[in-house]
Amino acid sequence: MPAIELHDLKKSFGSINAVDGLDLVVDEGICLGLLGPNGAGKSTTMKMLTGQAIPDSGVIRVLGYELPGEAKQARAAMGVVPQLDNLDIDVTVEDNLRIFSRLYRVKDIDAAVDRALDIARLQDRRKDAVDELSGGMRRRLLVARGLVHSPRLFLLDEPTVGLDPQIRTEVWDLIEELRSGGTTILMSTHYIEEAERLADEVAVVAAGKVIARATPEGTDRRACR
Ligand SMILES: Nc1ncnc2c1ncn2[C@@H]1O[C@H](COP(=O)(O)OP(=O)(O)O)[C@@H](O)[C@H]1O
Ligand SMILES: [Mg+2]
Repeated sequence: MPAIELHDLKKSFGSINAVDGLDLVVDEGICLGLLGPNGAGKSTTMKMLTGQAIPDSGVIRVLGYELPGEAKQARAAMGVVPQLDNLDIDVTVEDNLRIFSRLYRVKDIDAAVDRALDIARLQDRRKDAVDELSGGMRRRLLVARGLVHSPRLFLLDEPTVGLDPQIRTEVWDLIEELRSGGTTILMSTHYIEEAERLADEVAVVAAGKVIARATPEGTDRRACR
């Protein structure tokens, strides 16, 4: 069973066909890069996968669940990293992770928080307020927060857009570790280097459709210009 199956997925906003007959299958255990220019429909696709947007038509299956009906079950088994940092700056690093662990009904919260701190390499900053962290630390925490419930599927929407090169490399290292640990990853990006570096397979999206599917070496570089 694939981790994700999308068939003839459509979503429009007024006269804009944001997603326009998109087909995509993501096998378990791979990192798939959804590569496409701004406005291609990547975020809209991601939002339909998490149940934040309802498709006009088409089929969505995530980890064996049919969306939007079973969005709740699907969400419980997936981790999500939003494009924009929405960490809670009023509480500590540790409490950010604790709150999410509770939301996801994790049984052993202390263990989950500890593991996430290891992933983020923030054990020594656990009692600090989020606004005392560097940009790179915040990003690592944002990624680790999406992993507190050990999801089988991890979705990252443009995980490094607008980041400094050094922070980008830190996030890449984290994704690389996850990928080698066997988590299925769907990552959208408009950076070809990011797709080349991290993805086992790339699906090129333009105008709401997947127009090409390739391993990174074989991807048509013109597609994203
Ligand atoms: N909530 C919305 N309301 C109106 N138009 C939207 C909305 N969300 C996305 N769009 C439009 O849909 C198209 C695809 O957007 P999006 O999925 O965000 O693309 P990407 O993430 O690839 O940049 C764009 O033309 C965008 O302006
Ligand atoms: Mg987007």
